[in-house]
Amino acid sequence: MKTRITELFGIEHPIIQGGMHYVGYAELASAVSNAGGLGIITGLTQPTPEDLAKEIARCHEMTDKPFGVNLTFLPSFVEPPYPEYIQAIVEGGVKIVETAGRSPEKYMPALHEAGIKVIHKCTSVRHSLKAQKIGCDAVSVDGFECGGHPGEDDIPNFILLPRAAEELDIPFVASGGMADARSLVAALSMGADGMNMGTRFIATREAPVHENVKQALVEATELDTRLVMRPLRNTERVLDNAAVEKILEIEREKGADVGIDDIRHLVSGSENRKVLQEGQMDAAAWSCGMVAGLIHDVPTCQELVDRIMGDAEKIIRQRLEGMLG
Ligand SMILES: Cc1cc2nc3c(=O)[nH]c(=O)nc-3n(C[C@H](O)[C@H](O)[C@H](O)COP(=O)(O)O)c2cc1C
Repeated sequence: MKTRITELFGIEHPIIQGGMHYVGYAELASAVSNAGGLGIITGLTQPTPEDLAKEIARCHEMTDKPFGVNLTFLPSFVEPPYPEYIQAIVEGGVKIVETAGRSPEKYMPALHEAGIKVIHKCTSVRHSLKAQKIGCDAVSVDGFECGGHPGEDDIPNFILLPRAAEELDIPFVASGGMADARSLVAALSMGADGMNMGTRFIATREAPVHENVKQALVEATELDTRLVMRPLRNTERVLDNAAVEKILEIEREKGADVGIDDIRHLVSGSENRKVLQEGQMDAAAWSCGMVAGLIHDVPTCQELVDRIMGDAEKIIRQRLEGMLG
């Protein structure tokens, strides 16, 4: 399949694996890229720029296909050394960066000078237009269904994607709630040039997370996610567990007075790691999309991508064309 996204990134299939903290290691990124999609290493999961350089080198050993690095700009007390992380990306010969969180405007000159294509993740049309204006090459449009941070507008993809198509000139992929061929064909119908998946790629054989996490995704339904940190305007969609129930209780009790310090021990990165890497399923809140309801197995990335592309062709050629008589 050829779309503006496959052309832009030099990949076979219009399927991207979004950056995921404590999930997006070289094992997963290379597996997705080897399957013909675009795998992405999560930059800040690597504690230092030197570690990121090593992870990029490891990924080059596992694939000769294009892969990207995610750089997430989130509010934090101690800002990570972004210029050094970018230097590791440039020196590592990576040509695609997925940015998220805040606008990457400050870093665009450095990235473009190194010949790097930038895809920025946005949860609204206005942020997508801003990304286009500052020179991003593509955007990943993240609907309300998504795992992680859906923003505060609460617009699901059935509205957000056609709205993005109405306004944007640069290519965009649909992100949030994407699981299979039906998602891909629907996204293409709504004007997207491909799809980005987070949660679905966690339930793959190569995803370097604890087996309990993959099993939890297979068992979860579309009713099992919750939104935490709404009062802090830093909303995160997570899989329900004991820690999440505790956070929601604290948020209810404290109301508008709730601060990050009240819940930090239940949402912080290091606690998150206990779930994803150690399989302690109630240790902390962890990002997960509503799409969990559509995850019923743990295939390899190759099996997943092949299935999506094969079924997409059937949907287009048989189901849709058939309807036209
Ligand atoms: C466990 C997990 C961790 C994530 N961490 C990040 C991150 O560090 N940076 C980022 O930009 N997006 C992050 N995301 C969001 C994904 O890249 C992607 O946009 C999102 O999962 C898409 O929605 P879906 O889960 O419905 O596919 C994370 C998502 C999950 C599920």
